[in-house]
Amino acid sequence: MAEFELAIRGGLVATAFGAARCDIGVNGGRIAAIAERITDAAQVIEADGLYVLPGGVDSHCHIEQPEANGTVHEDGFVTASASAFAGGTTSVVCFVPQFKGGGILERFADYRARAAKGMLDHAFHQIIADPTDAVMNDEVPKVVAEGVRSLKVFLTYEPLHLNDGEYLKVLLAARRHGCLVTVHCENYDAIKWRTEALLAAGMTAPKYHAWSRPRVVEREATHRAIALAELVDQPIQVFHVSCEEAAEEIARAQARGLKVWGETCPQYVTLTAGHMDRPGFEGSKFMCSPAPRDTAEHARIWEMIRRGTLDVVSSDHCGFSYEGTRGKAQNGRAAPFRDIPNGIPGLAARMPIVFSEGVTKGRIAIEEFVKLTATNPARIMGLYPRKGVIQPGADADLVLWDPAKRVTITNALMQHAIDYTPYEGLEVTGWPTMTIRRGEVVMRDGKVQAEPGSGRYLPRGPYDLVKPRGVTPDGFMPS
Ligand code: URP
Ligand code: ZN
Ligand code: ZN
Repeated sequence: MAEFELAIRGGLVATAFGAARCDIGVNGGRIAAIAERITDAAQVIEADGLYVLPGGVDSHCHIEQPEANGTVHEDGFVTASASAFAGGTTSVVCFVPQFKGGGILERFADYRARAAKGMLDHAFHQIIADPTDAVMNDEVPKVVAEGVRSLKVFLTYEPLHLNDGEYLKVLLAARRHGCLVTVHCENYDAIKWRTEALLAAGMTAPKYHAWSRPRVVEREATHRAIALAELVDQPIQVFHVSCEEAAEEIARAQARGLKVWGETCPQYVTLTAGHMDRPGFEGSKFMCSPAPRDTAEHARIWEMIRRGTLDVVSSDHCGFSYEGTRGKAQNGRAAPFRDIPNGIPGLAARMPIVFSEGVTKGRIAIEEFVKLTATNPARIMGLYPRKGVIQPGADADLVLWDPAKRVTITNALMQHAIDYTPYEGLEVTGWPTMTIRRGEVVMRDGKVQAEPGSGRYLPRGPYDLVKPRGVTPDGFMPS
């Protein structure tokens, strides 16, 4: 019998700590050895001229997510898995919903069953949209026991937003149960006022989505989210940072030693508010929140990435098509921007865009790319060192990456169930040629080959990163 079930040979193995030419031996779905030369393997994959990277970890994906209006996102776990593998991602953290007036246990069971049908390894954030005492005291401990270690809150959106008192309640519960809190930071009341004023003035087209939520509403909510987290000494991650103003709030918190992390997304280094000004209803294809800004902001986001203020790039993949009853046009093509679903797909495009815009264009080193797309999300979500790293004992989630391959992004290449990609026509250099999930080749030259139902749930236990610091502004901490 061969010493290894699989060997990946001759690639440039890149991790968060550096890159070196070596071979990887795999047994039982895990990395068993990293050595200069591995010869005794049942299956050999030659990786000369390619990077070998940890499989991508996308810690912010909306997949097959039920909505408050009874619909479910178009991209289900099978198609989203294919899309993720096509783009080099092997693990995701997605969202169990909660709606006002409802609990979370039933939702958790339903969502877990949905996710089990896919091929991706997956963990869950629990959305808290209605932090009643019953939910926070009785139900949250039960989902924590099931392996949830992050609670997601929205400071905006009509059916989901929390006021400051509710947000504090979630922070305190997270502190008690050893969870991270992930936060959508935009000011609900300010956006509501702007939206009503814009609509009253007849400014209804998709481009006014950006006008309804300028940078200042993101900066204000980011500041508030951090200040309240500081008050109760609770670690948070600020989701989808779109602008320097918001990132500066995070940088200030980090400089004071707070446990605050910042995530950004490919849309904030490639798309602009101008995309939403395309003729007719086309602009809706680029509508997400926060709204994409401008090209000068892209450079500032890269700077915040380089400084380490923003240390994760997630897709914020959101499975709405353009056409169809669940799509952007569900309320008609003349619908005012307020009635167009927010969110854009990006699972497959995430790693190629970050590689091309980052590594190929010389903005970041390959080690930084690995950190942003795999190691840091795994660490922050408590999935490390099982995920996000190439080292003995870790799951053998690997991507063979051709740094020279030039690709023009098309919707077909995304392999999702959505009828468009906001990145159509974008040229990238650097593309995954093979994705390996737990030692199994699940994508080869764009062809996805994985059994539906083969994805594993990743229950998360307590982890140090989300431990409170034991410091509050004046030392007072109610239990
Ligand atoms: O527009 C966005 N980002 N939609 C997805 C939901 C969210 O806010 O993350
Ligand atoms: Zn959000
Ligand atoms: Zn999101």
